[in-house]
Amino acid sequence: MSQKTNRGQWGSRFGFIMAAAGSAVGLGNIWRFPYLAGENGGSAFVLIYLFFVIVMGISLMTTEFALGRRAGVSAVGSFKNLDRRWTFVGVIGVLTAFIIMGFYPVVGGWSLAYMFKSITGLMSTPDTAAFFGNFVSSSMEPLLWMLIYMILNIFIVVRGVSGGIEAASKVLMPVLIVLLIFVAVYGMTLDGSFAGVEFLIKPDFSAVTWDSVLSALGQAFFSMSLGMGAMLTYGSYLKKDQSLPGNAGLVSGLDTFVALLAGFAIFPALFAFGVEPTSGAGLVFMVVPQVFSNISGIGAILSFFFFSALTVAALTSSVSLLEVVTSYLIDEHGINRKKATLAVAVAMTILSTLASLSQGVLSDVSILGASFFDAFDIVTDKIFLAVGGVLIAIFAGWVVKKEDLISEVTNEGTKPFALVNVWYAIVKYAIPLVVGVVAVMGIINIQQRALMIAGLAIIAILAVFSKKL
Ligand code: TRP
Repeated sequence: MSQKTNRGQWGSRFGFIMAAAGSAVGLGNIWRFPYLAGENGGSAFVLIYLFFVIVMGISLMTTEFALGRRAGVSAVGSFKNLDRRWTFVGVIGVLTAFIIMGFYPVVGGWSLAYMFKSITGLMSTPDTAAFFGNFVSSSMEPLLWMLIYMILNIFIVVRGVSGGIEAASKVLMPVLIVLLIFVAVYGMTLDGSFAGVEFLIKPDFSAVTWDSVLSALGQAFFSMSLGMGAMLTYGSYLKKDQSLPGNAGLVSGLDTFVALLAGFAIFPALFAFGVEPTSGAGLVFMVVPQVFSNISGIGAILSFFFFSALTVAALTSSVSLLEVVTSYLIDEHGINRKKATLAVAVAMTILSTLASLSQGVLSDVSILGASFFDAFDIVTDKIFLAVGGVLIAIFAGWVVKKEDLISEVTNEGTKPFALVNVWYAIVKYAIPLVVGVVAVMGIINIQQRALMIAGLAIIAILAVFSKKL
């Protein structure tokens, strides 16, 4: 049923940029990027990350836009309509969205909780690290916030993405950026904060392992929403006269800017307060409240705004993930929107419940050597997105006809793209080779080997069976 019926188009270029950037900018930039950089030695990780963004990420985003606009349908259909044997790449994308939504709403719930905690005592806590630890391990409370966060997602996706959320993000995205700049500048005035700036910019490659290279790659794809067909789907709504490389560059630039800004907001303050860079997933929830609690009077309000903005940034990303799976059921299986959204959200909520409780009462349960939360994170970020990115590049470089792809990227030759040959070579050769090597070496060297093997097995099974989907 993959036909081009009744599909909307973005009203304006601005609307498209907002939606694509809204999908990209999220918890990945502000929650995930700083703690990964902290765990992987800082500057070297940041440099490798930037390399992947600039060399591979922008090219892959351009490619996803091109494949989507050319096909005019969402991810699964785009592959299936050209060659049924490639259907599974779209299906992997649907599965990836599904599993990311097995942990993302947990962190979205933390952010929502911190909005309210900002004005009810968080500012007067003597130890923000212990406060965070007690909160996430308390089981029931974070679970409830996750459920509320999930309900917000359902509301938005059932009603269509364009209403309130767009208006809220137009206001709160700039607020987020201003507050990040404020925290960064304020942090740099604190004693001992310069070590944090150094940590981010003075390259030290001694901490780099294959695992951290794979982390940087996974983070680049995760942050840019690449490797699973989300940007491809957005491309399918894009008008024929829009520049694909131009839009990809703009969305990527914005995404990277926000990630780096988050790094500069977190690390100077972190070093000034003597928090460990390797404190892990709670980093932003420990450091930012501590900065604001230093500011008597308006600190609580600023903290409230910060976590409101973070929650909205998270929502604009998670609705895009829920939408990927929902639109698959609508487009390919003819299920109505309301039913599809609810069914998908309930299943995601079950996964997120496991991930949320794995920080508390289920902390001893492991699947293949990791907690539920970590397992969902690792399997998507370190396998599915990387393998998905390689497969999308191979599909574009080796299956789609070169003339067709280039014609799409140059708008039928009307919009010349100076780097078109470089871009095509990156897609056809460099991404499959470099990402492939990084994935293989990372998988060989990672601790959670069993999990990686399970992930690869799932991909293999999908490759064999999804022709029938
Ligand atoms: N990019 C988002 C973030 O940084 C998360 C996200 C939304 C995503 N859609 C995606 C990640 C698709 C991978 C694929 O928070």
